[in-house]
Amino acid sequence: MDDKQIKLLIDKAMAASQNAICDFSNFRVGAAILSKDGSVFTGCNIENSSLTMVICAERVALYKALSEGCKEFTAIAIAAEGHDFCPPCGSCRQLLFEFAPDLKVIMADSKKNYTIKKIEELLPMAFKFQKK
Ligand code: THU
Repeated sequence: MDDKQIKLLIDKAMAASQNAICDFSNFRVGAAILSKDGSVFTGCNIENSSLTMVICAERVALYKALSEGCKEFTAIAIAAEGHDFCPPCGSCRQLLFEFAPDLKVIMADSKKNYTIKKIEELLPMAFKFQKK
């Protein structure tokens, strides 16, 4: 991916963050996941009064893609409005690794500076269920 493609994905993540429902944390997150066929699915965090049921932006984007039949991914951009780089939480790392083991994770700040890590770097020695 070149810088222009990365910035486009970051733009989509930032736009998605505007839909965040974050009355409890006031922390607005957006994500945009790029599938191998070029389609992009976005997500934002959604909070509700049962706090254990909060869902992160990354998971919304991933589940939207999976539920539309997209199963192969190259990159995800994550942006938290007005904040520095937003690394994915531990649960999202596990899910992203499981469904997209080759994923590049693009973490952007509000000025569109970014840092990129492979999901396997963010989740060393990841658990993977061994089917018999
Ligand atoms: N959040 C995300 O959406 N993605 C992350 O990578 C970190 C945290 C959300 C969950 C919750 O709505 C808020 O940010 C504060 O934790």
